[in-house]
Amino acid sequence: MTRLIAIASGKGGVGKTTTTVNLGLALTQFHRNVIILDANLTTPNVGLHLGMATPDITLNDVMEGKASLVDAIYLHESGLRVIPAGLHLKYLKSSAPEKLWDIVLDLFGSSEAVLLDTPAGLERGAQAVLDAGEEVLIVTNPELPAVTDALKTIRVAYESGAYVLGVVVNKYRKDSAEMKLDEIEHMLDSPILATIPYDDEVRKSIKAKVPVVLRAPNSPASLAYKKLAADLFGIKYTLPASGRPVVRILRKLFGLS
Ligand SMILES: Nc1ncnc2c1ncn2[C@@H]1O[C@H](COP(=O)(O)OP(=O)(O)O)[C@@H](O)[C@H]1O
Ligand SMILES: [Mg+2]
Repeated sequence: MTRLIAIASGKGGVGKTTTTVNLGLALTQFHRNVIILDANLTTPNVGLHLGMATPDITLNDVMEGKASLVDAIYLHESGLRVIPAGLHLKYLKSSAPEKLWDIVLDLFGSSEAVLLDTPAGLERGAQAVLDAGEEVLIVTNPELPAVTDALKTIRVAYESGAYVLGVVVNKYRKDSAEMKLDEIEHMLDSPILATIPYDDEVRKSIKAKVPVVLRAPNSPASLAYKKLAADLFGIKYTLPASGRPVVRILRKLFGLS
């Protein structure tokens, strides 16, 4: 059985692509066979995050009938399989997101999970991905505008017949200006599956085009992504001692990190 999981949000810039890519890499490290599909057909980013900015054949070519799906599947050096979308501006007009469902059907059975990176908002492109995904992971930041938009996306996902797995609160700083986790959970009426800390290593990794789970595997965000991957797929995973908050604080106190 292939799980079709859309990673979605209302607001842009909250960390959908970061989550899709690092979740996919964490699962690959757990020896799970997954494919990432960049379903952000007009402003794709997956290739940029993974350092494969200009692939020859992309999802857009497949959707236009100019290439076959197998030719648009790339093997990243990590072992993760990726279907990138095209960066060219011409795709702004030609993209037909409704065809995504056919592509996803073709992928059925080819892996344990297909992770779909979704465009922000609730326009046609995002709607088509929610239609194609059977399960949805909502990404938000702990701020009211992001959470309000996430609520709309959750409603649209349910209208599409998808199952909302829960919420990933990304860029979590644990400061007083943020919304509290129980407030977010209450407002969205969905469980929080992970909180990913705000982590400068994520930004450095995007600059380096090597996702954080590969580049800084023990950074707080990487550990949180691995834990999320393990929880979602029923994998046994214990955070390494240095990743536990109490141990981190003690190490800092004694000048060990
Ligand atoms: N946990 C994090 N800590 C710090 N910065 C982050 C984190 N997650 C994402 N970012 C930053 O936010 C930006 C947007 O992330 P991205 O995944 O591209 O969002 P989206 O796909 O939702 O538009 C990234 O370029 C990165 O710099
Ligand atoms: Mg994105």
